[in-house]
Amino acid sequence: MRGLVLVAALCAAFPAMAQTAPQTRAQLVARGAYLVESIGTCGNCHSQQRMVDGRAEVVPGSELAGGMPDDAPFGRWIGPNITPDPETGIGRWTEAQIAVAIREGKRPDGSTIGPPMPIGYLRHTSDADIAAIAAYLKSIPPIRRDSGRSEYRMPLPPAWGPPVGTVAAPADTPVARGEYLVTFAHCLECHTPMLPGGRRDATRMGAGGFEMMTPGGIVVTANITPNREHGIGDWTDAQIIRAVTTGVSANGRLLSPPMGYAWYRRVTPGDLADIVAYLRTLPAVP
Ligand code: HEC
Ligand code: HEC
Repeated sequence: MRGLVLVAALCAAFPAMAQTAPQTRAQLVARGAYLVESIGTCGNCHSQQRMVDGRAEVVPGSELAGGMPDDAPFGRWIGPNITPDPETGIGRWTEAQIAVAIREGKRPDGSTIGPPMPIGYLRHTSDADIAAIAAYLKSIPPIRRDSGRSEYRMPLPPAWGPPVGTVAAPADTPVARGEYLVTFAHCLECHTPMLPGGRRDATRMGAGGFEMMTPGGIVVTANITPNREHGIGDWTDAQIIRAVTTGVSANGRLLSPPMGYAWYRRVTPGDLADIVAYLRTLPAVP
């Protein structure tokens, strides 16, 4: 509980300086808290959750200490403990090693981090933001909990791509900032259909139709392109923001997990406006 209050305080402290890169250690940690605890939805995979009245809720005390095992076509995966506990978490990793793990999917021992950790999207995180995330993960209370390890039915590649190098912050326009946030939030990972063979259909980005297993059964993701008939083209900005932050669709229906509505609720109004501005530029796919 104290941890949550702290996070709320840190998130509240940050927005005022959103446009400038963090200067002090405290500002760096606050920016990291905001990214991890809101738009990054890290706890959606790295914490335990339970359903309460149709909504997913983090089990108190399990924040970032590892999720529950989940079955997927590629195997049985677990979002591990990413608190700074030296035995069961990432307490022995340096901040530089944490940054490489998140952007490149490689642990300090050289092993590859498997799906669904959204490495392909997190690669595009700016140098300033990845440093902030690593600093925040080092600052949270360590929780001793062995979360277990994923078991993949397929071999993982030696790397997900070349080393990331330097990533600059996005250009200072609503659409560029929104694209950066939508990438970091990996919205299109869930909201794009798969081609046979397991690749995303790049011609139908955001068109939905991707089936996900949840405790409540199979959920099909929605079309979030500006298509007026099948997507959100006719929705107001307020309706889009309400869906993302509260899990209530334009027609009033309560939306299902695994989308991390509870995390998106903490996204600042400015960032939400940028996300909407970018979604409205996606090709309108039926
Ligand atoms: C969709 C689920 C998902 C989301 C969202 C996610 N992760 Fe992960 N993450 C995983 C899984 C699964 C693994 C472990 C994969 C494996 O076992 O090889 C992992 C591994 C990691 C590791 C390596 C830990 C270790 O001990 O191997 C770190 C660090 C990490 N994630 C940080 C983050 C951060 C920070 C965020 C948010 C910006 C995040 N993750 C978002 C699923 C997720
Ligand atoms: C982990 C997968 C996942 C991620 C990540 C995700 N979503 Fe979703 N989203 C879903 C699912 C599943 C639904 C539909 C739930 C249902 O129908 O009950 C949904 C529904 C929506 C809806 C409501 C659409 C409608 O017709 O009611 C909007 C809008 C939306 N998502 C936008 C976003 C945005 C913007 C992001 C990134 C900031 C995002 N989503 C990230 C899985 C995801």
